[in-house]
Amino acid sequence: MILHLTVNGKNVETQISPEQTLLSVIRGNLKMTGTKIGCMVGECGACTVILNGKAVKSCVVNAAQCEGMEVRTVEGLANGEELHPLQQAFIDHNAVQCGYCTSGFLMTAVAFLEQNPNPSRDEIKKAISGNLCRCTGYIQIEEAIEGYIAERDKPKEVPDNETKENAAEETVEAAAS
Ligand code: FES
Ligand code: FES
Repeated sequence: MILHLTVNGKNVETQISPEQTLLSVIRGNLKMTGTKIGCMVGECGACTVILNGKAVKSCVVNAAQCEGMEVRTVEGLANGEELHPLQQAFIDHNAVQCGYCTSGFLMTAVAFLEQNPNPSRDEIKKAISGNLCRCTGYIQIEEAIEGYIAERDKPKEVPDNETKENAAEETVEAAAS
């Protein structure tokens, strides 16, 4: 059968067998290997992607049931060479050790923050409780998510040259009036 999906904003179609999982389609058919294989029974979260806005463990999702749906994977987070700010926060807070669990944590966190943009630490802990990290970096991961929120909510500074340009424009306008 042919499966139609929107993956990271692009329409794709691919031939699948009825028993294939979404994980197998993403990694096997679409050759997108940022989504990781872990337990394969829905316990570890390494395979987490966002399906129609909700974080799901793609190893236990039947691909055929995703016909027409929108999938977001870790490959869709960065903007060209520029990392998604949450990816940057994971780096800044040393939340990546071996990195195997990281794409799953990121996708869980992105979907969670879309639903709850200002969570408490306890809500963050609960949200990521379905993702396992063998390197036990949970505290750093929680701090990274909080760091991302703090950075996101920081008032934006106007770059110095912009301020000067504005001042120069105002002076010219004042002189002309
Ligand atoms: S590989 Fe899917 S939850 Fe572990
Ligand atoms: S960073 Fe190694 S499993 Fe999480």
